[in-house]
Amino acid sequence: MTPERARVAIFVSGRGSNLRAILEARSTLHADVVGVLSSKPDAPALGFAAEAGVPTAALDAKGAPSRAAYDLRVDEALAAWDADFIVLAGYMRLLPAALLRRFVGRIVNIHPSLLPAFPGLRPHRQALERGVTLSGATVHFVTEGPVDGGPIIAQRAVPVEPGDDEDALAARILVAEHALYPAALREVLAGRARLEGERVVRALEGAR
Ligand code: GRF
Repeated sequence: MTPERARVAIFVSGRGSNLRAILEARSTLHADVVGVLSSKPDAPALGFAAEAGVPTAALDAKGAPSRAAYDLRVDEALAAWDADFIVLAGYMRLLPAALLRRFVGRIVNIHPSLLPAFPGLRPHRQALERGVTLSGATVHFVTEGPVDGGPIIAQRAVPVEPGDDEDALAARILVAEHALYPAALREVLAGRARLEGERVVRALEGAR
């Protein structure tokens, strides 16, 4: 059974290349992108949202009087857009526990490593330091618990080439991210991959 069309808010903090890839694929999603929220008022990502005619909330996490005040602004934006699904695309803030509980099974993130390897900050550097020959990208549900530790929805492997530095590896993985994220969102938003407890459950082909 296909669920109601989701109302998606996309959270960003910076460059916004994943946001752009999702916006370009939006006609293929069983969802409406109702808003883009940035934790930085000058994030380049906001330009992509504006070009696409999507409403924005340009917040300033650093300038907020308190963590609670910032979290309240986030809640207000979600309420104003009547959003029921959150897509994190390079959002550099931790979500408060209350929001994680309210949106359980309805928050996803992309991380540029093959999780559970190399969660957290600077995953490309972690991969290079460990000497892996394969890295990649992971789309996962965001749940309470360790950062980047939620159940995995989709992954794509990307080779680490001899002589790679962080920038070279990040650029190669980013190309994969731009294909992987819209594809994973298509599955989740159409209800073909959903969170049940700590597992991702998939609809069987032909069973819908
Ligand atoms: C991407 O590598 C994403 O996986 C990570 O942060 C980066 C964001 O890049 N979470 P962009 O803002 O989407 O260009």
